[in-house]
Amino acid sequence: MNAGIIGLGRYIPDNVITNIDLEKKMDTTDEWIKTRTGIEERRIASEEIDTSHMAYYAAKEAIESANLQADDIDLILVATVTPDQSFPSVSCVIQERLGATKAAAMDLSAACSGFIYGMVTAKQFIETNTYKHILVVGVEKLSKLIDWNERSTAVLFGDAAGAVVISQVSEGRGILSFELGSDGTGGPHLYENERKKIIMNGREVFKFAVRQMGESSLNVLHKAGLTKEDVNFLIPHQANIRIMEASRQRLELPIEKMSKTVHKYGNTSAASIPISLYEEVKSGKIQVDDVLVMVGFGGGLTWGAIAMKWGK
Ligand code: UT7
Repeated sequence: MNAGIIGLGRYIPDNVITNIDLEKKMDTTDEWIKTRTGIEERRIASEEIDTSHMAYYAAKEAIESANLQADDIDLILVATVTPDQSFPSVSCVIQERLGATKAAAMDLSAACSGFIYGMVTAKQFIETNTYKHILVVGVEKLSKLIDWNERSTAVLFGDAAGAVVISQVSEGRGILSFELGSDGTGGPHLYENERKKIIMNGREVFKFAVRQMGESSLNVLHKAGLTKEDVNFLIPHQANIRIMEASRQRLELPIEKMSKTVHKYGNTSAASIPISLYEEVKSGKIQVDDVLVMVGFGGGLTWGAIAMKWGK
């Protein structure tokens, strides 16, 4: 039994905030943001669009693209650190809105690594033949946690949702290997403070990310019995172009084989990998039987990677 992706969806808010817009709000420059992070603009969801709205739209599209009905879904896993409220969970809110009457539902908290954690959790239920169809959503309304007076974090983040349906796929395709990890000693480098705002030690997170993204990518290839030469596409967590570039160079991949959406959306945390995957598949850059590496890191600290062969 192999678990793989059979449907994709996403939701990107309409409201674009460019670096030039931020120049007017705080002591920063387009030049600083672009050269230090690769970000040119990000989307910020309006007041009425909360995390569950974004999750719902992405989930609906993923179920439709899998040619399923909502009541075919057995489990809903929503990776987020910005739920509408602590309970009911975002997964329960969208279970009701989708009409996924048979589904169990839970949220999962692993910050920017959340989507990878969700995919790996789904894989276990599929491969043990417990469930047939699992909806995994990575969604974040990080704008709720942004301190607009703190330029070192305010320029980095954006809102979005990505969703996939995980089901059994043909032999040789789907998730080939994975790695998950955590290091709570690094928790103080990236956290939500008592005022519900993001606090980050950017340099420490940067060093950790560069090291871990490269290591985990190589580890999942090794576990799958593959080498760097076998990789067709790298989908790194879109936090900072310099971190992404470091992992691409570690895999010795040409630039066109790495997904890049950070310039358009900023860091969307748990949504960044699924929205990037969505764009690469829709644009035809990812083809059936391509070997993909998806790799992420985030608060916790946490990290995770997956090697997968694309296709049903
Ligand atoms: O999903 C996980 C989320 N976290 C991350 O991915 C963060 C990883 N870290 C990073 O991406 C980078 O560390 C940052 C982009 C956050 C910062 O880049 P950096 O090259 O590490 O810059 P820095 O923190 O060392 O700051 C350099 C200078 C400082 O000024 P001084 O002290 O050298 O005079 C900052 O005050 O840049 C200043 N600075 C800014 N200047 C203009 C910090 N933020 C800004 C800003 N605009 N927005």
